[in-house]
Amino acid sequence: MHSPAHASPFRRLEGEGPLLSFSFEGAPLTARAGDTVAVALLAAGVGRFRDTPASGAPRSPWCMMGVCFDCLVEIDGLASRQACNTLVAEGMRVRRQAGAPSVGDAA
Ligand code: FES
Repeated sequence: MHSPAHASPFRRLEGEGPLLSFSFEGAPLTARAGDTVAVALLAAGVGRFRDTPASGAPRSPWCMMGVCFDCLVEIDGLASRQACNTLVAEGMRVRRQAGAPSVGDAA
């Protein structure tokens, strides 16, 4: 099975807090309580969060503050969620977003 994650260039400054379990593309991952989805995925080595609607080019978080929208992912069946503005929750299911889903599209 192909893993969605690779060795991450990012390192946590602090490793405190309880662990949460969530998944990306069906693969189990862990996060620290208080992590955003973007932080947890980057720390796990995920580099491709979505593909652009026009060319299918891969995108990953850039601004980490809700401005660029390059971090859009599908969370628990809801499309176009900003990974940098969403805290990881126990059991959360995150998927890569392809293109531009319509409002209300579910997995
Ligand atoms: S990283 Fe820019 S909006 Fe999320």
